[in-house]
Amino acid sequence: MHGKRILLGVSGGIAAYKSPDLVRRLRERGAEVQVVMTEAAQKFVTPMTFQAVSGRPVRTDLWDEAAESAMGHIELARWANLILVAPATADFLARLANGLADNLLTTLCLASEAPIAVAPAMNQAMWRHAATRANVEVLTRRGVHVLGPAEGEQACGEFGAGRMLEPLEIVERLVPILSPGGPLRGRRVLITAGPTRERIDPVRFISNRSSGRMGFAVAEAARDAGAEVVLVAGPVSLPTPSGVRRVDVESAAEMYEAVMREVGNADIYISTAAVADYRPARPADQKIKKTSDRLGIDMERTTDILAAVAALPRRPFVVGFAAETESVEQNARAKLVKKNLDMIAANEVGHDKAFDCPDNELFVLWRGGRRDLGHGPKTALARSLIAVIAEAYAQREEGAAVCDGAAAHDGARVTSA
Ligand code: CTP
Repeated sequence: MHGKRILLGVSGGIAAYKSPDLVRRLRERGAEVQVVMTEAAQKFVTPMTFQAVSGRPVRTDLWDEAAESAMGHIELARWANLILVAPATADFLARLANGLADNLLTTLCLASEAPIAVAPAMNQAMWRHAATRANVEVLTRRGVHVLGPAEGEQACGEFGAGRMLEPLEIVERLVPILSPGGPLRGRRVLITAGPTRERIDPVRFISNRSSGRMGFAVAEAARDAGAEVVLVAGPVSLPTPSGVRRVDVESAAEMYEAVMREVGNADIYISTAAVADYRPARPADQKIKKTSDRLGIDMERTTDILAAVAALPRRPFVVGFAAETESVEQNARAKLVKKNLDMIAANEVGHDKAFDCPDNELFVLWRGGRRDLGHGPKTALARSLIAVIAEAYAQREEGAAVCDGAAAHDGARVTSA
């Protein structure tokens, strides 16, 4: 971040109390920070606080003649290498999505050609509101980087998604935005995520507890590593990561078709989806009535998408996931061999583990090696996973035996299979 010029916009939410710390973290890394506050933001923190931590007078007003004559707002817009708005309130996101230029911050966002990142912070119901969802969707499509929000207890006492990310996490997420390129630069990565739904009748289906969080985190991590990412997603309620192309599907059959359409362009395929192994053989055209005491549903196997990709004559680098309730390593290794994968990420599921929660514990296996990625937020594990995949992929490209080198220089955390 050394020498990067960051324009930090602060809009009016309680999370603004964390923003002075964010300024400090950015400056610790060598960035120059110019703070711009909205009128509402000044109800939470004073400009004086930001001036003290940023070492620059804070800009608050489009009509401030003295400030404008020192550096006009168009000049300021050109000055920035990046605009970060943290916290970004629901109101600010709406203004940005609609292209309003009714205060200094929104005007700067419109006048600047620098990348824009926003760290949303709001009440969980406001974040889930259809209007906010639509605004975020517009911003994401436009290439605005949406960082977070995190889930947890909120200042208003409610619980859910809407908390601003912690300053350190925001800083980490800015690194790839400021220095594009990374270990997967120029690579195309195809990822599946979430559950599938298999139709029983027009109103019922069979599905599973997958939330899609892991796959969406992997998509973000691959994007941050410089890849062009396509995300084939089952039915999940997660926003599309900015800069990622998303293809929505419902059933295993639809997911198979979408993957086969996209895989020809992919260098790496990562199969995080919890695809149904069986589906009702003959879904009913009409709602099934409760006419008997017992009901049996005849089920047939779905196509194993991962194995089908691995069997393609010109296959990408193929990474599977193994979700196991027992003998995790043994079962995962058996899947690695049986499905002919390059790599498999394994985790224990069930008993409130892994499914529908923000944390996970993962390890990665390949022929001849193993790496423990430890326990932590899915976002952090996803980044570690992408780093291991990028390393193994690069070695395969160089013609070296996959991951032998990684095993050799990964010290104590790698054990040979
Ligand atoms: N998978 C897939 N298509 C399927 C089933 C699974 O692509 N029809 C992929 C998953 O995305 C995951 C891997 O296969 O990457 C492992 O899935 P899992 O359900 O754990 O194992 P299965 O191979 O289905 O075996 P089992 O259910 O017997 O454990």
